[in-house]
Amino acid sequence: MQKLQLLQNQFNPTSDDIFFHIVQAPPDPIFGIANAYKADTSNTKIDLGVGAYRTDEEKPYVFEIIKKLEREVVNDPTLNKEYLPIEGLADFNKGCQKLMFGQNSPLIASGQIVTAQCLGGTGALRVGFEFVKRHIPGDVYVSKPTWSNHNQVIERAGLNQFEYPYFDPKTKGFNCAGTIECLSQARMGSIVLLHVCAHNPTGVDPTEAEWLQIADVCKKRRLVPFFDCAYQGFASGCIEKDVFAVRKFAELGFQMIVAQSFSKNMGLYNERVGAVHIVTSNKDISARVLSNLKIVIRTICSNPPAIGARIAAKILTDEKNFNAWVEELKTVTGRIIKMRTLLKQELDNLKVPGNWDHITRQTGFFTFTGLTPEQCDLLTKQYHVYLLRSGRMSMAGITSKNVRYLAESIKAVVQKK
Ligand code: LMR
Repeated sequence: MQKLQLLQNQFNPTSDDIFFHIVQAPPDPIFGIANAYKADTSNTKIDLGVGAYRTDEEKPYVFEIIKKLEREVVNDPTLNKEYLPIEGLADFNKGCQKLMFGQNSPLIASGQIVTAQCLGGTGALRVGFEFVKRHIPGDVYVSKPTWSNHNQVIERAGLNQFEYPYFDPKTKGFNCAGTIECLSQARMGSIVLLHVCAHNPTGVDPTEAEWLQIADVCKKRRLVPFFDCAYQGFASGCIEKDVFAVRKFAELGFQMIVAQSFSKNMGLYNERVGAVHIVTSNKDISARVLSNLKIVIRTICSNPPAIGARIAAKILTDEKNFNAWVEELKTVTGRIIKMRTLLKQELDNLKVPGNWDHITRQTGFFTFTGLTPEQCDLLTKQYHVYLLRSGRMSMAGITSKNVRYLAESIKAVVQKK
């Protein structure tokens, strides 16, 4: 796992220069690439770094339904700028529960789910892990590899983290046996961070049968599942199917934590719209959990912002809006799936050495290409193709116009001795 602790020189209180000891931190591994891409003046440049959807014209996309509902929100004379409750907008929270756990979830009816609006997926993770640190402090197991920000958020919450061997480089698929073996040795009460679907960065998800094996080891070792759901809708293209793992674990009686994000599936990236759910065993405990969760939130951001959540709530609580959103989401995910097929075809047509089947086997926003850090560097420096050094490629940045150039660039770096 990358070492996140930066070497710091000692603060010298007698120095006139209070901040002198602070050393330069590295750029964020994802947003640093986004900035480098923006600064590049080449007209063949391709942005496959940050996981943000682009149209076939390489443009950012605002959902039509979001534009419409945003206008409604800003023109609604009954709304004002008063603080929201610490736990956020009630309608939004209820809508989030239904989307995650199902319209008729018995857990919702019995008051077993505590929900708080958070600042996007990262906000939900930060609040969730702060809560873990305060109330159920244990070791945290993260997939190897995982989203780079997971490691930082967990570290900042002051928790120890270990890796379970999630990705098998040989098969470019899920290492189920390795994961189960590792988790079966985890200390009782440890937290296991699990990606609900469209795993970031690998694009590799467990099958339903494999999820049951994970549930089994979590039960046996009394591990606490902490699900991160940032890509609901992007794996299978169906929002219900994509949250199979959460709903199955709920059905199996797990008490657990879920972080939910609407950055991608509603395209609300900079509005920071997300939620954290804590599933308890009964509604009295839920009340106690909520009271403490509110203290965590109060000290991090006091209370959440309203506009994004109001827009999302209009989708989550109105059937017509909801259906319009689902349809639009299908178009978005459909384009990404098409790009997978196209890239694979181009690589095959160009007879690029190696097997590229995993491009269409993996799902969601990302492909874990298997390209080495050096090959990725070369792609960026020589061909202006921006991707993570781990070989993660955001499929949302590929278009019908740039896919050929991308395949040729990959061919060139793969063939380079
Ligand atoms: C990504 O992984 O590229 C996205 O989730 C954006 C981010 O915040 O890192």
